[in-house]
Amino acid sequence: MKWPRILRWSWRILVADMLKIAHINSGYGDVQVLRDVSLEVLRGEIVSVIGPNAAGKTTLMRSIVGLTRPRAAEGGGIFFEGRNLDGLAPEQIVRLGITIAPEGARIFPDMTVLENLYLGAHALKDQRRIKGLLDRVFRLHPWLADRGSQLAGTLSGGERQMLSIGRALMSDPKLLLLDEPSLGLHPVVAEHVFSAIQAINQDGVTALMVEQKVAFSLEISARAYVLENGSIAMSGPAAELIDDPHIKKAYLAL
Ligand SMILES: Nc1ncnc2c1ncn2[C@@H]1O[C@H](COP(=O)(O)OP(=O)(O)OP(=O)(O)O)[C@@H](O)[C@H]1O
Ligand SMILES: [Mg+2]
Repeated sequence: MKWPRILRWSWRILVADMLKIAHINSGYGDVQVLRDVSLEVLRGEIVSVIGPNAAGKTTLMRSIVGLTRPRAAEGGGIFFEGRNLDGLAPEQIVRLGITIAPEGARIFPDMTVLENLYLGAHALKDQRRIKGLLDRVFRLHPWLADRGSQLAGTLSGGERQMLSIGRALMSDPKLLLLDEPSLGLHPVVAEHVFSAIQAINQDGVTALMVEQKVAFSLEISARAYVLENGSIAMSGPAAELIDDPHIKKAYLAL
């Protein structure tokens, strides 16, 4: 049965979880990386996934955006606003409202800042909407506005990361995935990036962030999950995890 549009729309609003991952396994060929992973992100939250190298954090992100195919037991899967993402192509997932700012920024160095930003909006047609999104990126990162014609390859590490996040925002995501936005950045620069993420969130974008700079990421997150060896080892409000003895010892070097 096909529901009238208004009923489908109101049902989506009633679903409290923006993203719900239930009991997924994922990996590459015969190599299983994620084991029975479940997590959820509520509308408006910043949620962090923390964990050591090779824990499966990027694999989790790739699974959400359809670049790696997860497997789930009966009733499990990845659900966005109540809709099962199983079998959807990455392009379709972007259109539903999930965009990733990938690990290592991956901007195009031989293209200008503005060209990089427009790439993020490639699926959109409405020029006025694209202009509005560009204005938002410039409002959030004012320095980008002056650098529109500069080659992206000439930007510093922190600026590249901001450009990568700006490009992701150009697709107008409801949920922004951030894979180690502070990777390789000096702590002072990383702090700017985290402030920018906070501002983006206050502008109405929900965020799921993978991070190894644990103190910073917990500070701006509502809740967090700890991914170790492909499984969720702990989860809870960020304020509680900061005080947890295991977190302090393993991730905060206290
Ligand atoms: N394309 C691939 N093919 C096979 N194995 C892979 C592939 N990508 C990652 N892996 C393996 O999957 C495991 C998890 O990798 P993943 O990149 O998800 O970890 P991560 O937590 O993001 O690590 P990092 O902190 O280094 O970014 C690792 O053992 C890695 O070697
Ligand atoms: Mg990774």
